Amino acid sequence: MTIVVTGATGHLGRAVVESLLDRGVPADQILATGRDLNKLARLDVPSRRASYDDPESVRAAFTGADKVLFVSGSEVGRRVPQHRNVVEAAKAAGVGRVVYTSAPKADTSDMRLVAEHRATEKMLLDSGVPAVFLRNGWYLENYDVADALEHGIFGAAGEGRISAAPRVDYAEAAAAALLLDDPKQVYELGGESFTLAELAAEISRQSGREVTYTDLSEEKYIEMLVGAGIPVEGAKVYADSHRAASNGALEIEGDDLATLLGRPATPLSTAIKNTLA
Ligand SMILES: NC(=O)c1ccc[n+]([C@@H]2O[C@H](COP(=O)([O-])OP(=O)(O)OC[C@H]3O[C@@H](n4cnc5c(N)ncnc54)[C@H](OP(=O)(O)O)[C@@H]3O)[C@@H](O)[C@H]2O)c1
Repeated sequence: MTIVVTGATGHLGRAVVESLLDRGVPADQILATGRDLNKLARLDVPSRRASYDDPESVRAAFTGADKVLFVSGSEVGRRVPQHRNVVEAAKAAGVGRVVYTSAPKADTSDMRLVAEHRATEKMLLDSGVPAVFLRNGWYLENYDVADALEHGIFGAAGEGRISAAPRVDYAEAAAAALLLDDPKQVYELGGESFTLAELAAEISRQSGREVTYTDLSEEKYIEMLVGAGIPVEGAKVYADSHRAASNGALEIEGDDLATLLGRPATPLSTAIKNTLA
């Protein structure tokens, strides 16, 4: 059995490789791929260069793969053509199953960031390659506790609940899904849910310092992000994710994450405790 992991130079892909090894998959049955061979060399498994912008490199890396963990690219706005290259390579190489890291409620969400994931899921379905969609909820690492302690938390998510978990939980769930004989097609993955006011309250409780959440309109939040040096388009996309979160786009129902993990997802309080330590 060969499992190819893309994006293995990144945080999630690397943690998936480590989790596969922890689960007893022999190193020679894992192939870590990414754009930077120097970064890949730090992993204890064979590696090969594969760039989503270079279809031939992806096809060559996928040849002989039973399963591929396809980590969504990080270049927002460029991902549809890049991901098309990956899907076409998977089909041409005869990959047995593609497990794709998607986004919450990818088929219905109106969050701008989700559109490229919806397009990728559709490309995979249309390709006929057996596919599993891991619709990863927000990473807890998206919230910077040190920054919250210094400045407070600002956003436009209102009372929207966010079902977040540490990135490593999603990585372990991905490794578990890769090893299932008969996975579901869609997993909606998220941990304990909280509002940003509850996040601020938990950081206050554990640190002993007052941290507040200030809820802004989407427009004011964009202005604030731009004022902090974020390019306008990026600020708009980020603020849009808060707008969508205020309407429940990041609240995940069900227990898919705990089921794949075989344990509850890491609670917010534990993640904050670990960060403060
Ligand atoms: N759910 C969430 O809260 C959340 C938050 C952030 C991101 N995400 C998504 O989840 C993915 C994985 O998260 P992460 O934390 O591992 O992100 P990350 O550390 O930025 O890693 C992204 C990985 O994708 C690779 N990549 C990007 N463009 C590529 C291309 N054109 N060809 C080949 N590889 C490419 C990167 O390669 P390089 O090392 O060469 O750049 C890197 O290995 C992200 O890419 C993004 O789609 C989700």
